[in-house]
Amino acid sequence: MKNIDSFTHVRGKSIYLDDIPVLQGTLYGAAYGSPVAHGKITSLDVSEAEAMPGVVRIFTAKDIPGENQIGGIVPDEPLLAEGHVHFNGMPVAFVVAESAEAAQAAVHKVKIEIEPLPVITDPREARAKGELIVKPRQFVLGDVDAAWSQCDYIFEGIAETGGQEHLYIETQGAYSIPLENNRQKVYSSTQGPTAVQRHMAVVLGVPMHQLEVDVTRLGGGFGGKEDQATLWACLCALATHHLKRPVKYSLHRMEDMRMTGKRNPYSSDFKIGLSKDLKILAYEAEFHQNAGASADLSPAVLERTLFHCTNSYFIPNVKATAFSCRTHLPSNTAFRGFGGPQGMFVIESAIAKAAEELGIDKADIQKANLLRTGDEFPYGQKAVSEAVECWSKAESLYELDKIKCGIADFNSTNKLFRKGLSLMPVCFGISFTKTLMNQARALVHVYTDGSVGVSTGAVEMGQGVNTKMLQVAAQVFSINPNKVKIHSTSTFRIANTSPSAASATADLNGKAVQMACTEILQRLKTRAAERLQCEVGNIEIKNEFVWLNGAQTDISWENLVLDTYFNRISLSEHAHYATPDVHFDGTKEKGHPFAYHVYGTAITVVTVDCLRGTYEFDAVKIVHDFGSSMNPIIDRGQIEGGLVQGMGWMTMEEIVYDGEGRLRSNALSTYKVPDIYSVPKEIAIDYLQTEKDNLAIFRSKAVGEPPLMYGIGAFFALRDAIKAFNPSASPAFSAPMTPEKVLLALYSKPVKETLHEEEVSRVAIDKG
Ligand code: MTE
Ligand code: HPA
Ligand code: MOS
Repeated sequence: MKNIDSFTHVRGKSIYLDDIPVLQGTLYGAAYGSPVAHGKITSLDVSEAEAMPGVVRIFTAKDIPGENQIGGIVPDEPLLAEGHVHFNGMPVAFVVAESAEAAQAAVHKVKIEIEPLPVITDPREARAKGELIVKPRQFVLGDVDAAWSQCDYIFEGIAETGGQEHLYIETQGAYSIPLENNRQKVYSSTQGPTAVQRHMAVVLGVPMHQLEVDVTRLGGGFGGKEDQATLWACLCALATHHLKRPVKYSLHRMEDMRMTGKRNPYSSDFKIGLSKDLKILAYEAEFHQNAGASADLSPAVLERTLFHCTNSYFIPNVKATAFSCRTHLPSNTAFRGFGGPQGMFVIESAIAKAAEELGIDKADIQKANLLRTGDEFPYGQKAVSEAVECWSKAESLYELDKIKCGIADFNSTNKLFRKGLSLMPVCFGISFTKTLMNQARALVHVYTDGSVGVSTGAVEMGQGVNTKMLQVAAQVFSINPNKVKIHSTSTFRIANTSPSAASATADLNGKAVQMACTEILQRLKTRAAERLQCEVGNIEIKNEFVWLNGAQTDISWENLVLDTYFNRISLSEHAHYATPDVHFDGTKEKGHPFAYHVYGTAITVVTVDCLRGTYEFDAVKIVHDFGSSMNPIIDRGQIEGGLVQGMGWMTMEEIVYDGEGRLRSNALSTYKVPDIYSVPKEIAIDYLQTEKDNLAIFRSKAVGEPPLMYGIGAFFALRDAIKAFNPSASPAFSAPMTPEKVLLALYSKPVKETLHEEEVSRVAIDKG
């Protein structure tokens, strides 16, 4: 089944926040952001801005009737700056005007004086100064300190990953509408409608039941709207609260890039110990997470870094410590993988370092240490592993030996191009790491004409969750999918939702839809049995008809629905699902936090132009553990999208803040993302089909985030190609591996016999 949104998407007819027809009297907002990263506000003068044409009012912290607080995990984040500013772009005032242009023009007239304070942008510096967001966390397995003496080889190093701009196509935004008695309806481009509702209630000082948050769909979220959509909705709601008029704010791209947080950059230390037969006996890592100015989701992201610090490998002795470091940057936040990719990059770097020092293939170490069923993760859960299956299937299906021979051939005959290879296994835990968040609800109505309306807590953001919800309802009722409609996500229809995140949206909400539909189905069948005077057990509803003892009757779906209604039996149901058996004890750092894990292996081949440092990816070939996919078209799309997003993070997406905490890569001219020319020439995706457990809907497996981490293979394939050209090169484990870095690494030591003299001089000329 195709994504139900594709028809309106390709015609430009899908409704996003900025497409909602505006009501008469709608006003437009624009935030004024601090011009400096850290300092004390000594004066704030909005009089000139307020006198600008079309300006209705300018709001500052003193206009907040409730609490000036929107921190999700830690209450450390004001809605509007008060006293101090903590990052460049931090909202200080909210201008509301008759048009978006008038609001934007007035923003430039706000006057502020700030006494500058020292700016920290580096997480290690923050740690040294004691600037931690939360207490450090540590996961321990076995006894690392004792294990070092048993290791034949020990290597140490540093690994760093940069931030990543979410670059959802639809920027952040909200549209608040006043209703009677101080109530509001707020459209928000958010992954977390309840988070928005809760914080608006805190800011306005009203109960949550006053505020409806309604979401039709997002033009992408990727984690960037799990927490950070709240701010904009609170600003609009604040203005609506005072002015009793609708207020809309849809951010400009450059405002969005400047004011919102990104993937958390990390700087980490590793130490790895191996035996002669390449078993990893010990692994120690210290992660420094750049959290930015406030906690936001960083403490939860930090936790997932620890959960995934050993990726797809079993290591008997592990000590991993993680520091969430406060800096003067916009608060960094959730981004596809949620800290997992950052943790995995470090273990992959440690393995690459060991392989380099030992002069062997990285893959030999990887393969020797893959997780097996029954192996223990550092957090105590036992693996039900597909790691070896995925790796072996990738090796055989894609004929790894042939790929290797091809690369060796190419590299021995080609002078200015080199190919590189990497294998990237992935193991990703599914469930919110915060156990209580693993719950969802669905509200299903069967209307008297036989059509079905479904509401859930799931937010559609391009990942296809609405299509999957529709499939669940259609399948349980055995009716044509065109009879089912998925309604918008509203906090008045579905309360207390977890954000659509952690790749678990279809799992959680799908189960709730299944439960609600099953309950209604049971009532329908009971009614049919009454009518046919038989046992309910003999009744089936199949292909829109009632079947008795395996034979079709003449009672149609519509007829049965109407008849059930006439008999005053409810055709509606609200169901609640909570993932069974997940738990975690934060005091011991042990438990069973994940319902299950998703596995996979990617083979990446790259060709580097050794004159220019540029590169193209020949192919990425993936064996992915889909479970029993509910929708192979959507799931394939998730893998392709996740992969390319991960490759972008590893290769070209480079966020640059200067020492003053000002974003220099603040537009798409300076921040490069993958386009159609940079995607691999070939992407092969094969399924490892498993049906072992049923912890996700219909024995499928979550697919949203895990594929992003295949992109890490791009970094190591590039490193392999560089070393094929310059064996003495040892490029830093510092992502992204931009063409500049590749070029420097290619010539990081005198080029030996690799090139003829004439070519060496050509290269020298090219380098100027
Ligand atoms: N795919 C699209 N097209 N757009 C998105 O914003 N977000 C990703 C992933 N795939 C995203 C996406 C992230 S970060 C997550 S957690 C999951 O989708 C969330 O949806 P799911 O739980 O339904 O997989
Ligand atoms: N993943 C994504 N979002 C989250 C999580 C998680 O594990 N925990 C809290 N928010
Ligand atoms: Mo995804 S980072 O869990 O929104």
